[in-house]
Amino acid sequence: MKKAIIIGATSGIGKGLATLLVENGYKVGITGRRSELLDELKRKNPDSFVTKSFDITDTTSSVIKLEELTTELGGLDLLVISSGTGDLNEHLDFAIEKRTIDTNVLGFTCVADWAFKYFEQQKAGHLVAISSVGGLRGSRQAPSYNASKVFQINYLEALRQKATFLNIPIIVTDIRPGFVATDMAKGDGQFWVGTVEKASKQIFDAIRSKKPIVYVTRRWRFIAAILKRIPGILYCRM
Ligand SMILES: NC(=O)c1ccc[n+]([C@@H]2O[C@H](COP(=O)([O-])OP(=O)(O)OC[C@H]3O[C@@H](n4cnc5c(N)ncnc54)[C@H](OP(=O)(O)O)[C@@H]3O)[C@@H](O)[C@H]2O)c1
Repeated sequence: MKKAIIIGATSGIGKGLATLLVENGYKVGITGRRSELLDELKRKNPDSFVTKSFDITDTTSSVIKLEELTTELGGLDLLVISSGTGDLNEHLDFAIEKRTIDTNVLGFTCVADWAFKYFEQQKAGHLVAISSVGGLRGSRQAPSYNASKVFQINYLEALRQKATFLNIPIIVTDIRPGFVATDMAKGDGQFWVGTVEKASKQIFDAIRSKKPIVYVTRRWRFIAAILKRIPGILYCRM
C-alpha cells in the first residue's frame, strides 16, 4: 500500500486530493491546523487516514510532526504541499504579507526540504506542491501571495535540478492552478473557476504520470502562456 502525506488537507484541494488518494488505495497522513476537520475526514475512513495537526509556520514542531506521521504511516512515497494562504492587500498591511510569507515561503521551504532529504535517503519519492498561475507575474492586489508563489515555482525547479544532479529518482511536480472553487479563490472577475473534484482528479492524473509542471484546470495553460508574454510596460497598466 502506497503512503502519502498531504499538508493542508482540512479543506479545499488538499481535502479533495486526500479523498481521491484513499479511494485509489493509498494510506494518507492528513495535516492542517484545524484538528476537528481532520477528525471529521478520518471518521469517513478510519483505516486509511492518519491525522496530525500542526502549523507549518512553526518549523521546529513541523519537522517533529512529519517524522511522527511518517512512522505512524509506516513509510512515505508521496508528499503533497497543499497548504497556503493569501489575501487581497491593496493597502500593504504588513500583517497580511508576513502571514503569507511565513506560510507560503518559510513553512513551505521547511516541509519541502524535509521531504526532499527523506526521499534522498530513501533513494526514491515524489514531492508535489500546489503553487499557482499567480506566481507567473506580480499582483498589485496581492503582492506577497504572487511573490510567494514564484518563490515556490523557482524552489521546486531547484529541487528538480538537484534530484537530476544527484541521479536519484525523486519526482518533483509543480501544480499551478488558476481559479478553483475554495476559500482561497478571492477577488472580483474570476473566470474558468474549476471545481475541487475536477482539480483533484487532474492533480491525481499528474501524480500518476509523474509530470513536472501542470496547469489546473488544463485550459489555464493558455492563460499562463499569455501572461508570460505580456510586455512589462503593458502589464504595469493592467
Ligand atoms: N483555490 C484557488 O483558486 C487556488 C488557485 C491557485 C493556487 N491555489 C493554491 O492551492 C493550495 C490549496 O488551497 P485551497 O484553494 O485548497 O484553499 P483552502 O481550502 O483554504 O486550503 C488551504 C489549506 O492550507 C492549510 N493551511 C493554511 N495555513 C496553514 C498553516 N500555517 N499550517 C498548516 N496548514 C495551513 C489549511 O488548513 P488549516 O487552516 O486547517 O491550517 C487548508 O487545509 C494553496 O497553496 C493555494 O495557494 C489555490
